[in-house]
Amino acid sequence: MVKICCIGAGYVGGPTMAVIALKCPSIEVAVVDISVSRINAWNSDELPIYEPGLDEVVKQCRGKNLFFSTNVEKHVSEADIIFVSVNTPTKTRGLGAGKAADLTYWESAARMIADVSKSDKIVVEKSTVPVKTAEAIEKILSHNSKGIKYQILSNPEFLAEGTAIEDLFKPDRVLIGGRDTPGGQKAIHALRDVYAHWVPQDRIICTNLWSAELSKLAANAFLAQRISSVNAMSALCEATGANVTQVSHAVGRDTRIGPKFLNASVGFGGSCFQKDILNLVYICECNGLTEVANYWKQVIKVNDYQKSRFVNRVVSSMFNTVSGKKIAILGFAFKKDTGDTRETPAIDVCKGLLGDKANLSIYDPQVTMDQIQKDLSMNKFDWDHPIHLQPMSPTTVKQVSVAWDAYEAAKDAHGLCILTEWDEFRALDYQKIFNSLQKPAFVFDGRNIVDVKKLREIGFIVYSIGKPL
Ligand code: NAD
Ligand code: UGA
Repeated sequence: MVKICCIGAGYVGGPTMAVIALKCPSIEVAVVDISVSRINAWNSDELPIYEPGLDEVVKQCRGKNLFFSTNVEKHVSEADIIFVSVNTPTKTRGLGAGKAADLTYWESAARMIADVSKSDKIVVEKSTVPVKTAEAIEKILSHNSKGIKYQILSNPEFLAEGTAIEDLFKPDRVLIGGRDTPGGQKAIHALRDVYAHWVPQDRIICTNLWSAELSKLAANAFLAQRISSVNAMSALCEATGANVTQVSHAVGRDTRIGPKFLNASVGFGGSCFQKDILNLVYICECNGLTEVANYWKQVIKVNDYQKSRFVNRVVSSMFNTVSGKKIAILGFAFKKDTGDTRETPAIDVCKGLLGDKANLSIYDPQVTMDQIQKDLSMNKFDWDHPIHLQPMSPTTVKQVSVAWDAYEAAKDAHGLCILTEWDEFRALDYQKIFNSLQKPAFVFDGRNIVDVKKLREIGFIVYSIGKPL
């Protein structure tokens, strides 16, 4: 029986390995993590992440050929293939702070593999890493190898949160990069055989190591660039009377452009787009490619602009002050169908409104009060560096409350900001909400989900991204 071990039981490691276990009953899969609470949660009825369809997959395999454990060294030493899916956040200190990837977790995983291994291993980069990381990993492993042979593969993950299981069941492609040596090719085949259990051969792309590493950064940069492009257009739409939904529909009908990923929004969030683009920018700068670095930097700048534009719109519409006014925030997660709040645009919007002394009543169906408080008290990039976490300031504590549902959040508020596109926000009784709001009643739709005409008929003053005012 082939044994797989995955280091890192997070948003990627957990779902990816659960699907491998489901699709490959002949393979034993162990997912290990240094976080005891995370592993306990994976072994309980309350999984540590909310992801549609994940519960069913885990329940079918857990205890059969899928195991979650904190016994990292045992499972690593027994495995034939080791996936490393640890976090690779942005550095907050030192050389490259605010841009470069922090590979501390990766390096410690690699050193541990070198320490405990007693047989040859295939080590797979599942985390998103800077191009050429495999070279560094090879050095760490081969300098400690005790005669053991390691093959490093790059197999970046392309799943999106909220649709992770669907994406893993039917990936657009699986990418495997390896060395162009007999050993490297043999390792590529071994990993290809795992995916071939359910992924058609023509969807498995094999490349050299550096192309695979760079393709992941490039794919995220291209995706984020589309959102910044449509968001930049949304500002121009508001200034000219064009409607961004009509513009993106017309643009996306060109088969060379395509209709997906063209929804204007309050800005993109999530743990990866910003971090991966900053990482790409840093790599370009290190290679002397200033123009290329500046091109990609602009994607982040437009995203920041979109978030501050939204805050400015709220404040200026509400007679240039939100001081002491209650504002309902509907949605805090970075997108629907996930409880993940990493880099969610809601953090910047809430901080902007708090800076103008608003009182916020926040509701999200999947995000806890504890998480919201943590997010609003953190500095940029600190979310993946637990050591830097601080409690919320007493003033902010007074300004923020968390509600059980959208109606409670909206009661007596002056305005409503929709920051996540949860389906339930489309189906709210807006007449009931209107009745309980202070007048004039404002709606600021950061996700273009409300029926603007209907809400205006009810009596709301509505601002919707990129729509005529
Ligand atoms: P995560 O923070 O949810 O999970 C990482 C886990 O690794 C944590 O549970 C942490 O405790 C564990 N860990 C860290 N160091 C360890 C060590 N030395 N030994 C054992 N466990 C260790 O992160 P994630 O969202 O799963 O992302 C992981 C990687 O995958 C990142 O590089 C990210 O860029 C990439 N990625 C993420 C997504 C996504 O949707 N979240 C999608 C594609 C790629
Ligand atoms: C993204 C990519 O889609 C995945 O392919 C990739 O594997 C992953 O990053 C990663 O490397 O972490 P994810 O961040 O989970 O996945 O979610 P997306 O659906 O890409 O959404 C990202 C952000 O963009 C969200 O805040 C979303 O609301 C926003 N978005 C998305 C828009 O504002 N408009 C759109 O048209 C699409």
